[in-house]
Amino acid sequence: MSTTTQILARSTTDVAMTVTRAHARATVSSSPTRLGRPWLPRLAAVLAGGLASALLLQPATAAESAAAREEFVPQVGQPGKDVVWVPTPEALVDTMLNLADLKPGEYLVDLGSGDGRTVIAAAKRGARARGIEYNPNMVELAKRNAEREGVSDRATFEQGDLFQKDFSDADVITLFLLPSLNERLRPVLLEMRPGVRVVSNSFGMGNWEPDRRVSIDGSECRSWCSALLWIVPARVQGTWEIDGKPLILEQEFQKISGTLDGKPLEGRLQGAQIEFSVDDVQYKGTVDGKAMRGERSGGQSGSWQAVARTGS
Ligand SMILES: C[S@@+](CC[C@H](N)C(=O)[O-])C[C@H]1O[C@@H](n2cnc3c(N)ncnc32)[C@H](O)[C@@H]1O
Repeated sequence: MSTTTQILARSTTDVAMTVTRAHARATVSSSPTRLGRPWLPRLAAVLAGGLASALLLQPATAAESAAAREEFVPQVGQPGKDVVWVPTPEALVDTMLNLADLKPGEYLVDLGSGDGRTVIAAAKRGARARGIEYNPNMVELAKRNAEREGVSDRATFEQGDLFQKDFSDADVITLFLLPSLNERLRPVLLEMRPGVRVVSNSFGMGNWEPDRRVSIDGSECRSWCSALLWIVPARVQGTWEIDGKPLILEQEFQKISGTLDGKPLEGRLQGAQIEFSVDDVQYKGTVDGKAMRGERSGGQSGSWQAVARTGS
């Protein structure tokens, strides 16, 4: 058989299968008056074996594959690349977005976006939202869901491995993965802009403790009912000079310790906001790269500023 014939034969077989399946559908779904043989002209074309006829039938094939995609019904527990699909309960989606304090105009990225529910809910709040999902059927399903909800202009979905994607410009990251995957993502998240909010359904980030945690009760949610928030902290580890005195900071995620002019201090970061206490003096301020400035209260009030000497 020549190559052309093989191609033709394959086309013919495909078209014949299309016709057969179309017929099966017509038999199931058509009214008795339409039960004649609407597929007969197609079959005749196939039997005639003309390439032109087969090509003419291609729109039917495309329509059918679209219909097949339309029929995709996700199954809880279906395999994903690194974690199976389990949807976040709708009530927890809301809790997660509230916890993230997502505002209209902000940009949210959901890592492993499943059927798109978090992205769609974010878009409905006026955010721009993007889902990254490995399973192409889920991506198509999410796009259809966004279309149906009227937010496809602000809710976009793309197929791919979340570990290969750049989402460094996000304001909010949401995820429902696994503890091991969260930890794998952690260095990337910690490199993001200070103040970026990361919200996970149920799972932690190893020894990076959440800044807040909210659980909803059983009437609204039966499983996977906790949301955890982390705020990416500014990077301040190193030696600074504050009003001419050495400030040495050790940092473990959002917790800081160290010394100011040799006196011990403890404090924490919330994004770019820093606060620490030395003796009975409280320092509150904002980190801006290699500078910090703010107000002092307690034993000594007034403003303060610091500049980085090493590290940070
Ligand atoms: C537990 S489900 C959560 C779905 C959605 N975020 C939600 O909360 O309803 C995890 C999703 O991540 C997807 N996934 C798994 N590994 C992935 C990877 N490496 N890259 C992108 N998506 C992945 C799965 O297909 C699944 O849809």
